[in-house]
Amino acid sequence: MRLLFVASECAPFVKTGGLADVIGAVPKALAGVGAEVRVLIPAYPALARLVAKGTPVMRFDDFFGGAGRIVAVKAEGLDLLLLDAPHLFDRPGNIYLGPDGKDWPDNDLRFGALSFAGAQVAQQGLDGWQPDLIHAHDWQAGLVPAYLRQAGDRTPVVTTIHNIAFQGVFGADRLDALRLKSALFTQEGIEYYGQISFLKAALQLSDRITTVSPTYAAELMTPEFGMGMDGILRARAGDLTGILNGIDLDAWSPDTDPDLIAPYSTRSLKGKARNRAEVMRRFDLTEGRGPLFCVISRLTAQKGLDLLLDCLPGLVGQGAKLALLGSGEPGLERGFVGAASRFKGSVGTIIGYDEALSHLMQGGSDAILIPSRFEPCGLTQLYGLRYGTLPVVARTGGLADTVIDANDAGLQAGCATGVQFPPGSATMLGHAIGRTCALYRERKVWQGMMRRAMRHPVGWDRSAAEYLDVYRAAMG
Ligand code: ADP
Ligand code: GLC
Repeated sequence: MRLLFVASECAPFVKTGGLADVIGAVPKALAGVGAEVRVLIPAYPALARLVAKGTPVMRFDDFFGGAGRIVAVKAEGLDLLLLDAPHLFDRPGNIYLGPDGKDWPDNDLRFGALSFAGAQVAQQGLDGWQPDLIHAHDWQAGLVPAYLRQAGDRTPVVTTIHNIAFQGVFGADRLDALRLKSALFTQEGIEYYGQISFLKAALQLSDRITTVSPTYAAELMTPEFGMGMDGILRARAGDLTGILNGIDLDAWSPDTDPDLIAPYSTRSLKGKARNRAEVMRRFDLTEGRGPLFCVISRLTAQKGLDLLLDCLPGLVGQGAKLALLGSGEPGLERGFVGAASRFKGSVGTIIGYDEALSHLMQGGSDAILIPSRFEPCGLTQLYGLRYGTLPVVARTGGLADTVIDANDAGLQAGCATGVQFPPGSATMLGHAIGRTCALYRERKVWQGMMRRAMRHPVGWDRSAAEYLDVYRAAMG
């Protein structure tokens, strides 16, 4: 099976969140079950060196305001197709946002062009290589089926929703610039309350839809979580599947991780203490009697970290510590920087994005806090499981599907791997922090949970097989 992935980010080359981790990992897992995947992503500046090494395989003279081409190159075990169009992608800083912190004003053209290029690969083929199916990810690849269908091409398309909060909505006056035929601008097509929605296009025109956990698939069909798309998704319920994300075990394993001070495994957890000491040092924390919690996150309303700010006096009062690495909304950044000076030695904040430090924190913390209001899947709790850093998570989306709560039943049955609590409430989060501190005092119980968490299967094998089933269904 030949597959073309179309996405806006891909680890380890360019990453703002979990989407990149998934795009970097799934193709390798699919190769293991016999599929051949090529990954089309924009050639942002971080990819310039690879572009220079690659082979041009397709040219576009008039490509949404400049010249463009696709360059093929192999790197990190992936078959990459880089969309080289400097007028759209050769810009410093964040791949979605300008220096003013707002979306680049031409994001419609940038990601319309990405979708268009994906459709062209299917329509023209690359030196005899033609995908049997396109797997498009999030709104940035949402127009792939629109371009294919308006050209009369029936190549099957599967779209994955990684986060329905981002929908790619633009003015109807952009139809011509996006080279979209007005025939598609209907309620059954790409029209969304008088505007163009890339995501709606994907949901209406793709053959199958997946999202990144079974619970989120169900949540998406409710008004509370569907963010205006719940009706469409209810109508397409038969074509919607929730498939859990996995993690790349080559990049995320505590026995081989080069970013840890000391490796460790279920056989010997000793190294974890040395990593812990290093995390405490990096975050200016002093030793205490409670657990070391960490947070590694985008700082946005989705992640519910405003609730954590309310819980800090309680957390610190129990002798626990918090190390937070993140960046995002200025109000939240200020809140956690302020907390670090108010609770000196107990709360440490590093604002920024630091891949190596995120590994060290997974390796050295006792627990990871994820109080999301909604969470399509979430990867940091999976890294936490793998590193014996027990996840304390809101019971929503993929967090609900991947962590087993240490309630009485879970402990009696010997299957608990973390702590869950109802989302959206600081009181419930505070209660969960208290339960975690109590569990931490029971050293035997805690270490049993650590070992169980580390053995919990978090690789891609099962999910890769489930994707194959969806591809087969889409191909009829
Ligand atoms: P989302 O995609 O919604 O941000 P996920 O949990 O799926 O949430 O994925 C987040 C990814 O980004 C994880 O790999 C996490 O380790 C990483 N990450 C988030 N914030 C930071 C940061 N400040 N520094 C380093 N890595 C981060
Ligand atoms: C999105 C979601 C996150 C998910 C990731 C990868 O960014 O917010 O929950 O894990 O995509 O699918």
